[in-house]
Amino acid sequence: MLDLPRFVEVVEVGPRDGLQNEAHPVPTAVKVELIDRLSAAGLPNVEAAAFVSPKWVPQMAGSSEVMAGIRRHPGTLYSALVPNRKGMEAALAAGVDEVVVFSAASEAFAQKNINCSIAESIERFRPVAAAAKAAGVKLRGSISVALGCPYQGDVPPSAVVDVVRRMADLGCDSIDIADTIGVGTPRAVQAVFAATSQVFPMARQAGHFHDTYGQALANVYAALQLGVASFHSSVAGLGGCPYAKGATGNVATEDVLYLLHGLGIDTGVNLRAVVETGDFITRAIGRPNNSRAGRALLAKWAAAQGEPACAS
Ligand code: HMG
Ligand code: MG
Repeated sequence: MLDLPRFVEVVEVGPRDGLQNEAHPVPTAVKVELIDRLSAAGLPNVEAAAFVSPKWVPQMAGSSEVMAGIRRHPGTLYSALVPNRKGMEAALAAGVDEVVVFSAASEAFAQKNINCSIAESIERFRPVAAAAKAAGVKLRGSISVALGCPYQGDVPPSAVVDVVRRMADLGCDSIDIADTIGVGTPRAVQAVFAATSQVFPMARQAGHFHDTYGQALANVYAALQLGVASFHSSVAGLGGCPYAKGATGNVATEDVLYLLHGLGIDTGVNLRAVVETGDFITRAIGRPNNSRAGRALLAKWAAAQGEPACAS
């Protein structure tokens, strides 16, 4: 077991993973304010958009307008999902700093989510990767269902390692190990990272945990123990995946920050500003606030001001 990292990068995926599943359109102005609040809070990477087919994910249709509307914060990278060459053209035109190509550790999920096999997805990503290198933007790879698949069931670490190798070969600067449906438990998370770190540096991998079974914070801690120092989270725990029915949102950013700061780990992020952002977005879209730390802090601050605590 290693010492815990002193600094952890928190990648905020709320504006993309969090909002992609909303049934009603979220106005561009709300998305823009959400992203601007998150960058102002000090988040070093905000996944702001997805240049995917609007027929597949209607909520991400206005991604170019969102990118055009945000105030660029100097310390923040703005990342976006890109499934193919067409998405890459739009992403570059919108000025993204990091493109995220995404595949899966199970063939069944790749077919449902991106309508092709894992091998075909890698071929589609080749021109995206080449364009990213030519344009000098960062390239990140994301591997869904790395801890279990809603269609296939169990996913062996060897299947994740296989996709990590292919993404490394594409030239990905970093790779996300994603528990899309939140079924992973700490030992399973450690087994996957122990395997993937044999073929790709741990320092360039991230944990992307959904909290469906309430395991996400424990999984963050388990991954920290192996030296993983980048985690994805979603403000107020928003989200779900349209192609993984029943999966809930990502682990809440507020809860991850509360854990990390409590462990003495620096993130450079202002927890209070993120909690206030969670309150803003849940009120704006009429959703419950799924961050335990966020709700507790809002109640505490309201009580300190003599206001009745409200649990939205
Ligand atoms: P397809 O239907 O096989 O693609 O979809 P196609 O090439 O046959 O094109 C069909 C139509 O889509 C055409 O339009 C294309 O122009 C258009 P038409 O001629 O019918 O009018 N099209 C596009 N439009 C805009 N932008 C594009 C684009 N590409 C094609 N980039 C495709 C294949 C990959 C495009 C589709 O399956 C897709 O967009 N899938 C995205 C699904 C998605 O975004 N899922 C959620 C994100 S992944 C996730 O949440 C997991 C993650 O959080 C990690 C985790 O937790 O696991 C990252
Ligand atoms: Mg996700």
